[in-house]
Amino acid sequence: MAASGEMMDYQEFFTSALERLQSERRYRVFADIERLAGRYPDAIWHSPAGPRPITVWCSNDYLGMGQNRDVTRAMVETAWRIGTGAGGTRNISGNSHAIVGLEIELADLHGKEAALVFTSGYVSNQTGISTLAKLIPNCLILSDALNHNSMIEGVRQSGCEKAIFRHNDLDHLEELLRAAGDRPKLIAFESVYSMDGDISPIHAICDLAERYGAMTYLDEVHAVGMYGPRGGGIAEREGAMHRIDVIEGTLGKAFGVMGGYIAATRAIIDAVRSFAPGFIFTTALPPAVAAAATASVRHLKASAAERQKQQRQVARTKSVLSAAGLPLLDTVTHIVPVMVGDAEACKAASDRLLDKHGIYIQPINYPTVPRGTERLRITPGPFHTDAHVDSLARALVEVWTALNLPLASKIAAAE
Ligand SMILES: Cc1ncc(COP(=O)(O)O)c(C=O)c1O
Repeated sequence: MAASGEMMDYQEFFTSALERLQSERRYRVFADIERLAGRYPDAIWHSPAGPRPITVWCSNDYLGMGQNRDVTRAMVETAWRIGTGAGGTRNISGNSHAIVGLEIELADLHGKEAALVFTSGYVSNQTGISTLAKLIPNCLILSDALNHNSMIEGVRQSGCEKAIFRHNDLDHLEELLRAAGDRPKLIAFESVYSMDGDISPIHAICDLAERYGAMTYLDEVHAVGMYGPRGGGIAEREGAMHRIDVIEGTLGKAFGVMGGYIAATRAIIDAVRSFAPGFIFTTALPPAVAAAATASVRHLKASAAERQKQQRQVARTKSVLSAAGLPLLDTVTHIVPVMVGDAEACKAASDRLLDKHGIYIQPINYPTVPRGTERLRITPGPFHTDAHVDSLARALVEVWTALNLPLASKIAAAE
């Protein structure tokens, strides 16, 4: 074959893809932030002009467990005692003692026979859903329309037929279940949807699953640690854990560390352990990370103080921001979205908050949320003081006025 002799400009593929993103106003810029253990949510922003103190209002370290002394001590002491890495995959290096302890803790958290830890919540969903569904002959996956990308990837990788039900729409789910007939079915959904802060009707979905003979898979990523008497999530709060076949969670958000997991029967966990490529072919979590996660899960099982304080500050933030006329999306959870409705304005609001007020709230734009629903997503936690909340409200009002963004009254009048 004759070579064409012309040099292909490979760089051009990448630069033009980036230009497309820029022109669609979807190019993301990440702030360079240094959190301060013991002083969170206060942090340092390494701005182009040098370091500046800021307050973080958008972290998913929802309860500040990332700076909890028991958790940081467990990580440091384990690293000193055992070393850093896990030494490879569990297939090659065996189980670290710390990960065995963590899995026992997680199974207990959800009242299940067993649990299996992955390197992230993303991997848990991607490899967990795809492996489970592949092992069920002729499986139809029924997936909520607003499921997270990690679940969508799990469904895709399973190669199984899928049916998407409208978000939290029980009638539509039932219609699809009925149409599926006798074949095996897996319903995949979340408890707390992280962008709109709404929750799914878990018991009603379990009722349908029972009626139509389906298995259930519930992502509790934005709920574990924060809901239920022991932090088992919304299913625990609602007495529904025993009705869910597979509960998935993360160790990287309210537990403040890193990693993900599923909890289920011994047979399900053993099957995923034995067949999931995303478990088998990747290095396990470091023992120090597993030990820190165990300390965090244990702490939140015994202590409701963080949850109560979070709920108090969430309620106060919602009431102070609403009173200031800011357009909040009404939520029943700890997630407080302030609606902007335009990508550029959302980025400008975020930039001004950081630059002028030292307040960090990442803009949430398409494709994370649909176009026209761009927003600032605020996550008040137990360490945000009343003074923090008051300065947040003042800063948002200044930004909304300066950028001429719509206030709640204007949005309501337009509807
Ligand atoms: C609903 C949901 N599931 C799973 C994940 C992935 O979890 P992790 O961040 O631990 O990978 C996320 C991450 O944001 C999520 O929002």
